[in-house]
Amino acid sequence: MQAWKDYQTEHKDRFLNELLDLLRIPSVSADSKYKGDVAHCADVVKEHLLNAGCDKAEICPTAGHPIVYGEKIVDPALPTVLVYGHYDVQPADPLELWDSGPFEPVVKEGKIFARGACDDKGQMFMHIKALEVMSKTNSLPCNVKVMIEGEEEVGSDNLGKFLEDNTEKLKADVVLVSDTSMIGMDTPSIESGLRGLSYMEVEVTGPNRDLHSGVYGGAVANPATILCQMIASLHDENNHITIPGFYDKVLELNAAERAALNNAPFDLEEYKRELGVKDVWGEDSYTTLERTGTRPTLDVNGIWGGYMGEGAKTVLPSKANAKISMRLVPNQVSQEISDMFKAHFESIAPDCVSVKITAHHGGEPVVTPTDSPAYIAAAKAIKTTFGKDPIPTRGGGSIPIVALFERTLGLKTVLLGFGLDNDNIHSPNEKFEVFNYNKGIETIPYFHKYFAESFGK
Ligand code: BES
Ligand code: MN
Ligand code: MN
Repeated sequence: MQAWKDYQTEHKDRFLNELLDLLRIPSVSADSKYKGDVAHCADVVKEHLLNAGCDKAEICPTAGHPIVYGEKIVDPALPTVLVYGHYDVQPADPLELWDSGPFEPVVKEGKIFARGACDDKGQMFMHIKALEVMSKTNSLPCNVKVMIEGEEEVGSDNLGKFLEDNTEKLKADVVLVSDTSMIGMDTPSIESGLRGLSYMEVEVTGPNRDLHSGVYGGAVANPATILCQMIASLHDENNHITIPGFYDKVLELNAAERAALNNAPFDLEEYKRELGVKDVWGEDSYTTLERTGTRPTLDVNGIWGGYMGEGAKTVLPSKANAKISMRLVPNQVSQEISDMFKAHFESIAPDCVSVKITAHHGGEPVVTPTDSPAYIAAAKAIKTTFGKDPIPTRGGGSIPIVALFERTLGLKTVLLGFGLDNDNIHSPNEKFEVFNYNKGIETIPYFHKYFAESFGK
């Protein structure tokens, strides 16, 4: 469509500058210090939706951060795409590892550096700009509803209820999400699955107070040592997870599915080099692509206890803690895995300590079909703008709300992501390639066009 291309070319600089402005708002959902910034960001997103041509846009307050909703209904007889994204971002720390301020976006060598550049402001904003392109050129091929939340990075606690309360408003034919990655700019791909999540926090308590490590050391259990032993025992010598029942519901891929997955271009040497590791690690008899895409995992996300200040303090700590996440695959169930973890962790605690275990947010794994009209429309859109067929892949990350789109709204999701695995999401120096940003804006209208056409419209 020449009109789309012309409009995008004419407004390219503004499209970039508007994203940079959005990235200046520190909408960190996890930290209450930024509550006002999160609310301000929601207002700005709402204004953008109106400017992009939405008939209406509104702020929907929740018990937590607000949801922004907008829609443009061109004809009720046409199919409807529900676009989902998030305007909240992860905390920026450790700040000292950033080359420039996390909320002072800079464009360097064709890359936009800022917290949220890729996850998910940059990717979410592509949809608002694509909507602008389609509506300002009077060529929107279907109805569009847009729902942008502010709590994805903290578990989407209030979005599930919003879906339940608004099934009529959110009625659509498919959900379209850009919050995942592709293999590379020359190797477009579409993720066809997301892992689920169970997230636990454990506290191991030894003596009732911190003790002098000389006076008591060797005679009283050190909870930090015990915690390390307990955590180490959660993997066996083959790096299998040792929690009884953990793998019971894991769907094993058949030989053909494994072969297809491993057929995706992947350079192990480059992977290691780029990460600065001499070797990879993981569950025996699975490849790296299988380990991240199709296998469940258990990781320590944080571990602390005892003296962590400057210099040396001789102390036998009273407590040690860890945050442990488990990524889940079909057909594991988050609540069941959390219960199994708790029972097992309690059972392996020696009498010299006590343990307290709490569960944080979780989410269910999903696999999205690769033969649906929506997936085919996405693949055709990629083929149109990249000149290559996309490869279906399985992503390792989690977007818990996607399982609820299916359960609550009966809707399948297409994960049309334009990030790259090395975009440093959740890390210092997060970036998004300007090329990918523009390609996303260019590709999304074709998804709408091909999806509408699949209905014979
Ligand atoms: N966009 C990510 C998820 C993602 C990243 C999926 C890359 C596929 C590829 C999302 O914002 C995210 O970070 N999700 C969290 C879970 C959430 C409950 C905090 C995650 O995966 O850790
Ligand atoms: Mn995200
Ligand atoms: Mn994220």
